[in-house]
Amino acid sequence: MAKSNGNESILVVDDSTDTLEMLERNLKSKGYRVFTVQSVAEAIKILDVTPIDLIITDIKMPKVSGFDLIEHVKENYKNMEIVVITGYPSIGGAIRAVKIGAEEYLPKPFTDDELFSVVQRALEKLLMRRTMRDRLQKVPSAPFGIIGKSEQMRKIFEAVEKAASASATVVISGESGTGKELVARAVHYCSSRASAPFLPVNCGSIPENLLESELFGYVKGAFTGAFETRAGFFQTADGGTIFLDEISETSAAMQVKLLRVLQEKEICMVGSRRIQKVDVRILAATNKDLLDLVKTGVFREDLYYRLNVIDIDIPPLRDRGGDVLLLIGNFTSKFAAEAKKKEPRFSDNALEVLKNYNWPGNVRELENVIQRLVIMNEESIIDVPDLPSLMRSSICRELGLNRTLAEVEAEHIGYVLAGVKGNKTQAAKILGIDRKTLREKLKEKHS
Ligand SMILES: Nc1ncnc2c1ncn2[C@@H]1O[C@H](COP(=O)(O)OP(=O)(O)OP(=O)(O)O)[C@@H](O)[C@H]1O
Ligand SMILES: [Mg+2]
Repeated sequence: MAKSNGNESILVVDDSTDTLEMLERNLKSKGYRVFTVQSVAEAIKILDVTPIDLIITDIKMPKVSGFDLIEHVKENYKNMEIVVITGYPSIGGAIRAVKIGAEEYLPKPFTDDELFSVVQRALEKLLMRRTMRDRLQKVPSAPFGIIGKSEQMRKIFEAVEKAASASATVVISGESGTGKELVARAVHYCSSRASAPFLPVNCGSIPENLLESELFGYVKGAFTGAFETRAGFFQTADGGTIFLDEISETSAAMQVKLLRVLQEKEICMVGSRRIQKVDVRILAATNKDLLDLVKTGVFREDLYYRLNVIDIDIPPLRDRGGDVLLLIGNFTSKFAAEAKKKEPRFSDNALEVLKNYNWPGNVRELENVIQRLVIMNEESIIDVPDLPSLMRSSICRELGLNRTLAEVEAEHIGYVLAGVKGNKTQAAKILGIDRKTLREKLKEKHS
């Protein structure tokens, strides 16, 4: 979780001067900027003119109560946390305060440590929320149309620039959906070849017997059905770039031919012995580890070294930190504009789930999820229940939210009993049930 930097501004509201003095002394000793007032009216005046991060307020005060202050803050200030201080009899009041927007409550009397840990927790939540919002701000311009601000992506941008200014072959590796083709296009369009074609060829989807004629072209009569001479990708892309996608899927025979193109920069059309010089840059992509395939003899070692002059390895999305939120923001705007809809907002909890999901399908999966959410959703806020069930269940497992109500109840009873050192009368009072019900529940727990 984000760490507060210890110099946040805290406004303390309490009608008791003793409490105010005690809080002011303690909080100032930790470096916080502290403002103290004795009424809600004075608090509202301060809020008008001073940026405040956290409010610590009493509930019961003469004239206007702490509840009204909480409501005022929730309506007018988004970026502020509230902690309420409550005396023992008003525990119900604390619950109401939390319901209307207070983040934490501090029952009186409290120790200095309890005060500091509640303040620290509230400020950490605030920082986390602010960081999320900042990251959701769209980047004004994504370099080469590739969105990302993480350190990992900064390195990719540098690699793209270097690769674009060179003419060597490049192998782009990364899991499916990480943006290999996007990076390949960026290398081409930033290079001196930008005005010539960029031709993507999916080596995995063209049948083996057609790949050669697709790549190098064929002459009339080369095989049954070759009624005319046809140029292949290499002739069409002359002066430009060919992107060999899924390079690991090429057969042994094809690998020999590719090696020859890379070494000699020449090709032969199928059915012809005439050698043609070509000026084509090759970029290749793979989602398999080519070196592993070299070791097992599936991929030619000499071709591997010819191809892998420059390598760009794109990290999976789950390792790119804040980029997930940045991508969500960008895709949401894009798909809302396309669908001519008002841009929906994501709840903090939904963002947390999306951020913690491990995205096996990387950016492509995220793009599809956001597109579906924007199209299918009619509400202005997208919340956790709107997310695909797969995501909800994986986060539930992580957070321990897959427990039954009975399990949670039993655990809570256990905590309360421990807190009152086993005193059932006190525990029943806190739990809001009578002693008999508590006894029955304990019996159930142990049966
Ligand atoms: N950083 C990014 N910013 C914006 N869009 C991205 C980014 N990375 C990927 N995309 C988008 O995600 C989708 C998948 O990207 P791309 O096709 O380049 O992935 P790939 O690595 O080639 O996937 P595969 O291995 O499945 O072929 C595309 O629609 C692409 O525009
Ligand atoms: Mg691809």
